Amino acid sequence: MKTLVAYFSLDGDTQLIAETIADSLKADILNLEPVKPFPSEGFGKFFVGGMSVLFNKKPRLKNEDIDLRQYDNIIIGSPVWAGSYSPPVNTFISKYRFTGKNVALFLCSGGGGVEKCFEKFRKELSGNNFLGEIDFIEPLKTDKTEACKTAVKWAESLSV
Ligand SMILES: Cc1cc2nc3c(=O)[nH]c(=O)nc-3n(C[C@H](O)[C@H](O)[C@H](O)COP(=O)(O)O)c2cc1C
Repeated sequence: MKTLVAYFSLDGDTQLIAETIADSLKADILNLEPVKPFPSEGFGKFFVGGMSVLFNKKPRLKNEDIDLRQYDNIIIGSPVWAGSYSPPVNTFISKYRFTGKNVALFLCSGGGGVEKCFEKFRKELSGNNFLGEIDFIEPLKTDKTEACKTAVKWAESLSV
């Protein structure tokens, strides 16, 4: 059973958790990097990101030719942006439209909109078998070590 961890991260929180999970499961990892980077500071950071969610943008990704047929399990990670998953994750979900996979979800956020975001994920990914979901509050700014421990435990509990 092969596992893929696919994620987008602007500030490194989701990347930290994605790498920790992929390491602990010996899974492949896919950074959903947009061709045109999102601004990571200043007014544009929240404005451009927020608008992209609002308008359901699906930015082009640097790596759009992934063969998902080889994976039984797909773990998706995203920061919460405006109560949703981030636009590069939107691209990933919309482009591949996969079904019949074992799916697990993780989010990083400032603490708001997590449940709404999980609901949207579940709706858009219906037709898959959900193994679990977990969220973290800005692990790089809080307790990085504890967050990584929690992430490993969670990953192991998925039994993938
Ligand atoms: C455009 C934008 C929108 C955001 N919207 C939310 C939000 O709705 N709720 C929330 O709790 N945090 C929000 N955040 C904060 C991020 O979810 C949080 O900092 C997360 O840990 C960042 O993950 P990353 O380091 O992987 O990018 C937002 C951040 C950005 C840049």
